Amino acid sequence: RFTPKTSAGTALTENADAASQFVTDWARTLLSPDLESLEPGEGRIIRRGGKPIACSRDDDGTLHATSAICTHLYCLVEWNDGEASWDCPCHGSRFSPDGEVLEGPANEPLPTRRASSDPDLKRE
Ligand code: FES
Repeated sequence: RFTPKTSAGTALTENADAASQFVTDWARTLLSPDLESLEPGEGRIIRRGGKPIACSRDDDGTLHATSAICTHLYCLVEWNDGEASWDCPCHGSRFSPDGEVLEGPANEPLPTRRASSDPDLKRE
């Protein structure tokens, strides 16, 4: 079985498991102190409950969060400053900050919600 590795050497079968259980705790993620220093145009992967979440802030200050696990073969995506996209180092798939597929081979979006349109987003 083909088991590509991320640049960090993470076993991707673990990522596949995480992807299949990707239950997002969006409120906690998007209110995380880890993201207060995130400037417009920046992206950062944080972990919540062991799940990698790709967070970015757009030019109008809105935070976006998606699963950081590529839907092709489960590598971790990386932030592309120049294009403001999440790019997969394994086979070149690219995703928007909201997880939409910009380039294949992935053909499924990253699971996502947009903070500003999430009616469940409440400060605890
Ligand atoms: Fe991301 Fe293949 S695992 S493009």
